[in-house]
Amino acid sequence: MIKTVSTTPYSDQKPGTSGLRKKVPVFQQENYAENFIQSIFDSLEDFAGQTLVIGGDGRYYNREVIQIAIKMAAANGFGQVLVGRGGILSTPAASNVIRKHKAFGGIILSASHNPGGPTEDFGIKYNIGNGGPAPEKITDAIFARSKVIDTYKIADAADINIDIEGTHTIEGTKITVIDPVADYAELMEELFDFAAIRAMFAGGFRVVFDAMSAVTGPYAKEILENRLGAPKGSVLNFMPLPDFGGHHPDPNLVHARALYEAMMADDAPDFGAASDGDGDRNLIIGRGIFVTPSDSLAMLAANAHLAPGYSKGLSGIARSMPTSGAADRVAEKLGIGMYETPTGWKFFGNLLDADKVTICGEESAGTGSNHVREKDGLWAVLLWLNVLAVRKESVLDIVREHWAAYGRNYYSRHDYEEVDSAAANGLIADLRARLADLPGKTFGGLTVEKADDFAYHDPIDKSVSEHQGIRILFAGGSRIVFRLSGTGTSGATLRVYIERFEPDAARHDIETQTALADLIAIADEIADIKGRTGRDAPSVIT
Ligand code: G1P
Ligand code: ZN
Repeated sequence: MIKTVSTTPYSDQKPGTSGLRKKVPVFQQENYAENFIQSIFDSLEDFAGQTLVIGGDGRYYNREVIQIAIKMAAANGFGQVLVGRGGILSTPAASNVIRKHKAFGGIILSASHNPGGPTEDFGIKYNIGNGGPAPEKITDAIFARSKVIDTYKIADAADINIDIEGTHTIEGTKITVIDPVADYAELMEELFDFAAIRAMFAGGFRVVFDAMSAVTGPYAKEILENRLGAPKGSVLNFMPLPDFGGHHPDPNLVHARALYEAMMADDAPDFGAASDGDGDRNLIIGRGIFVTPSDSLAMLAANAHLAPGYSKGLSGIARSMPTSGAADRVAEKLGIGMYETPTGWKFFGNLLDADKVTICGEESAGTGSNHVREKDGLWAVLLWLNVLAVRKESVLDIVREHWAAYGRNYYSRHDYEEVDSAAANGLIADLRARLADLPGKTFGGLTVEKADDFAYHDPIDKSVSEHQGIRILFAGGSRIVFRLSGTGTSGATLRVYIERFEPDAARHDIETQTALADLIAIADEIADIKGRTGRDAPSVIT
C-alpha cells in the first residue's frame, strides 16, 4: 500500500556545496528526511519506471534513511532501485553505478569528511543521470519545494534485507541489492595498468592506505590487496564504522597525522594514501614528501598519458578557483584548455560532459576524471601507482622534477572553523566593499594587481554563479583568496587560501608556512581576521 503522509515544511533544507548536511538529531526530526527526499522527487520529471541508485558512506543513520528512501522511491513510481549491499556505496562508486546502469539518478547519503555518530553529521545529496551532483537549477528547485511541501509518499512495506545481494519487489518496483565494489573495481581495471602495478608490488614496493574506518575500506581491500597483490595489512582501518571510530574521516595532515608521521620516517613505505568518509577525497604522501592536492592535480595531469585509460592524452584540465595554479602551467605546456570553476565538484560536470576537460581537481583533496562525475579518492591513488610503476622513480623524485620543470606553487589553506556567522559574513562583506580600492595598494612590499569577487560563467550552459570567493592577486603571481565554507553544519568556517609561485629551483626547499609567512600576515592585515573572528590562529592548516 502506498501512503500519502501529511507533513509540514522545514525552512532549513537548502543544499550546500554538496547536498543537505545537518547534525543527525536534525535529520531525526519528524519527517525531516522524508520531506527532503520528496522535495527531490518533486523537483524531477519523467522518472516513472526508471532506475534510482541509493547508497551511502555507512555513517550513523545511513541504514535508517536507506530504508526510507527505498520505500519512497517505490511509492513515487521508480521502476527499479539499485542499493549497495549494507547500504554502502562510495560517492565515486555511486556515480559509476548511475552511469553504467543508465539510472535516472541517485541518492547518496553522506556528509563526506565530517564526523559521524548520534550527534555528528549526516547528509543527503542527489546526483543526476550523468552520475554527477545535481546542478544548482535542481538544488534550487529542491529547496523551493522543501519550503512548501505538505505531503510525501511512502510504501507501507517491511524493511528490505540490505545485507544480502538479491532482488525484492515493493509496489511493483524492483529493488536490487548489489555488490557495492564490483562495478567500480572493474572500471579501475579498465583505466589502469594493473599488471604493471602488480609487478611493482611484487618487486617489494610498499604501499599503505588508510581507509579511516570509512567507506573506501572494502574498495581498497579488494583492489589493492586482492587484485593488485599488495600484502595483507596494507589497507588500514578498512572496516566502515558508523562513527568512523570516533575520528574525523578527513584525509589531511591534521586528521591523518599518524600516516603522515609514518611516511616521514626513515623506514617509511614507498607510498602512503588515505581517503575520506565517502571515498571521494585523497591524500597522497610519498616517502618523505607530502604532495599537496593542487600539486597532485598538476602532476597527475602531466603524467596521465602513462595510464592506459588516458593514453590518448587529455582534452583539458579544470580546477576550482581556490586551487593553486600549478595545473595551469601543465595545460599550457600540453597546449590544452584550462578552466577555473567555483568550489564544488558540480561545476565540473558540464565541462566533462562536453569533453572540454578530462581531469579535474580541487585543493581540498579532490581529484578525478571523466570516468565518473565525482571526485574519486582511490582513482587518484591508482593513477599515482600507475605512474610510479611506469616511471620507476620515487614520489619525491617525480615531485622535484615537476617543480624544476614547471616551478613550484607554495600553497596552504587556513581554516577558521565554527566562527560566529555574523562576524564571518561581516568580514567578507567588508572585503567586497573594498575591492575597488585595493588595486595599487602595497602590503608588506607586495602590490595588489587585481581584486575581485569571483564569478563563473559556465561556457556550456551559460549559467552565471556569483560571489564565489574574494580574490586578491598580487604582482608576481602571489594570491590570497577568502571564502566561506558551504558545507559546515555549525557557525561559519572562513577559508583563507594562500599561494606563491616560485620559479627558481634553488628555492624549492622552503617549509611551506615559512615560504608563505609574509602573505599570511598580509591576509590578516587586509581582512582583520584576528579582530573579527577573535581567533589567534587558524583551527586547521592544510
Ligand atoms: C569543501 C571543499 C570543496 C569541496 C566540498 C565537498 O567545500 O572546500 O572543495 O568540493 O567541501 O567535498 P566548502 O566547505 O569549502 O564549501
Ligand atoms: Zn567526500
